[in-house]
Amino acid sequence: MLTVVQHPLIQHKLTLIRKKETGTKDFRENLDEIAGLMAYEITRDLPVREIRIETPLITCATHELARDIVLVPILRAGLGMVDGITNLIPTAKVGHVGMYRDHNTLEPKNYYAKFPGNLKDAVVMVLDPMLATGGSASAAIETLKNEGASIIKLVCVVGAPEGVSRIKKDHPGVDIYLAALDEGLNELGYIVPGLGDAGDRLFGTK
Ligand code: PRP
Ligand code: URA
Repeated sequence: MLTVVQHPLIQHKLTLIRKKETGTKDFRENLDEIAGLMAYEITRDLPVREIRIETPLITCATHELARDIVLVPILRAGLGMVDGITNLIPTAKVGHVGMYRDHNTLEPKNYYAKFPGNLKDAVVMVLDPMLATGGSASAAIETLKNEGASIIKLVCVVGAPEGVSRIKKDHPGVDIYLAALDEGLNELGYIVPGLGDAGDRLFGTK
C-alpha cells in the first residue's frame, strides 16, 4: 500500500527543502519536522493494549502502545529523519543500516547493520528521505527480514514511481509512506524534480 501523506505543513516544508538555495541548517530542521509530521499519520494504526492505572483520583482503564517501535534510518540521509520521530515516540529504539549507491551501476552497497534485539515483534520503520530506484530501501528491508522483522513500514519523503514499483514487487507486504510522489528519475538516477542529493544537503558535503 502506498500512502502519500498530504498535509499543508508537510507540503510547505517540502517546498523549502526542494529549493536549491536552502542551506544545511534549514534543510536539516525542515526534514526532521517533515518526518515528525509524517509520523503522526504513519502511527495512526499502531496497536494499543488496555492497562489499568491510578490517576490522582481513581483507578481506570486506559491504553498504551502494544508493540515496540524500531526506527531504522538508512545511512546517511535517513539520519535526518530520526529526531523528528523520536520527539513523538521517545521510547522508540534505533537501528542502523549503511547503504550507498554505486554511482555507475546505481546498485546499493551494504556497509553497516546494527539492530536492537526485539525486531520480531516490533513495528519497524525504515527511514530514508529518497526512494529513487528503490534498490537501497529494498536491500535494507531484505536485511531486516533476514534479522526477523515482519511488520515493516517504509517512510520516505520524496519517491519516484520506479522506486515504489520496486518495493511493491520485492516486498508486497511493506506499507510505503511518502510526502510526495515525483515524476521519475533522470539519466543519473536522481529523482526529478526531487531535491538533489539528500545526504550531501543534510551534511553539507557538497
Ligand atoms: C541516497 C538516498 C537513498 C538512496 C536512494 O543515498 O539517501 O539511500 O540514495 O536511491 P535508490 O532508491 O536508487 O537506492 P546515497 O546512496 O546517496 O548515500 P548517502 O545517503 O550516504 O549520501
Ligand atoms: N539519492 C538522492 O539523494 N537523491 C536522489 O534524487 C536520488 C537518490
